[in-house]
Amino acid sequence: MAEITLTRFDEVRDAYRQKGLKQALYDAAGVIMADTVLTLWGDEHRRRRRLENRLFRRDTFEHYERDLLPVAVDEVLDPAAASGRGDVVPLARRIVVNLTAAAAGVDRSEGTPAETDRLYSYAVKFSEGATAVHSTRDPAELRAEVVEALERWDEDFFGPSLARRTGLFERFATGEVAEDDLPRDVLTVLVRNQDSLDLPRDVIRREVAFYMLAGMHSTGAATTHAVHGAFGWFDHHPDDRKRMLDDPVFLQHCVHESMRLHPASPVARREAVEPATLRDGTEMKVGDTVVMDLWSANRDTEVFGADADRFNPLRDIRDDVPRWGHTFGGGRHACIGMELDGGVPADETTGAPILLGTVALILRGLLARGAQPDPDDPPQQDPNITRVWWGRYPVVFR
Ligand code: HEM
Repeated sequence: MAEITLTRFDEVRDAYRQKGLKQALYDAAGVIMADTVLTLWGDEHRRRRRLENRLFRRDTFEHYERDLLPVAVDEVLDPAAASGRGDVVPLARRIVVNLTAAAAGVDRSEGTPAETDRLYSYAVKFSEGATAVHSTRDPAELRAEVVEALERWDEDFFGPSLARRTGLFERFATGEVAEDDLPRDVLTVLVRNQDSLDLPRDVIRREVAFYMLAGMHSTGAATTHAVHGAFGWFDHHPDDRKRMLDDPVFLQHCVHESMRLHPASPVARREAVEPATLRDGTEMKVGDTVVMDLWSANRDTEVFGADADRFNPLRDIRDDVPRWGHTFGGGRHACIGMELDGGVPADETTGAPILLGTVALILRGLLARGAQPDPDDPPQQDPNITRVWWGRYPVVFR
């Protein structure tokens, strides 16, 4: 079976859109990813995605940006700023963990910081399982840890959240509970459609765990990369620190630029389940795989200019190319949380204002509190992963 690697922006975009190519990046991560929306294909994927899409609309994004995120940012960053220092990696993840749990449908019964930390450590373990393909750890050992974390998370969070929703639906069926009183989250959608989608409990459990890790892991990493990109830019453009706080479009361009340079996964992989012809004419037979090198495609000098591998939020980009390149994927599996995290530009025709998105809001929260790199404690790469992935990013607040 042939394996083809694509490195150009337009080639990758074309491959994402090919109907006969099926997800093939998560074969080593079945313990957490099997039968989740990201690994489904064809009609099964379409049905699941259509239902879940209903949750990810502009009114939801506005609700997050206006009501939930500012509170979540203050709750985590105020104590860190008061203490004078912090580490962006856990700070960013703690901000997003409760938000992601709310979107996924994982209830928190205690509402304490200790409970958030517990949820956070489960999601960290799920993320490790999902990125098994890039892990430097022993696969059997990692798998056993993820299985164990899933069981404990089930007892602690998932089981009670599922039971609450099942009970609500029983009362909904008898008219005791109104439609408006049902939670608006992924678990509720799945419980409601369990029979029509033929979803066993373990699949629902993995789907909700996947949402937890997809939302938290990528957002946390993107935030740390955005902070790093911004600090690097300020070294040569010190006046832009103020501009980043005052100019939402510039702030958002900075975030998108760092997203382009650091896609959450450096590659996507697809397998041909039908014969396919790629943009350059290459014929793929059933069973052939294509590796989409997002890292390189996002640095394609024909699309992003001669300085494509440098952080430059002021670059000009053609209209049909998102500033974040392929970082949120494309085609059928394009990220469902793209606007939640990357924001939405203002719309002149409808008058809808810009939505900054989670990453820009956290970056702004850090900068507004005077965050700067800690001169005595430089950032460090995570030793357990071969991607560029910050393990620690200490900052001081001045
Ligand atoms: C900066 C943050 C994020 C990045 C860079 C990111 C990136 C991606 C990418 C590249 C894919 C497609 C993978 C592929 O085609 O192989 C994807 C899919 C997905 N993402 Fe995200 N993501 C982010 C945040 C989120 C958030 C906040 C959520 C949910 C709350 C989310 C939920 C999902 C889901 C459910 C899918 C699967 C969609 C499908 O298969 O139909 N992501 N994401």
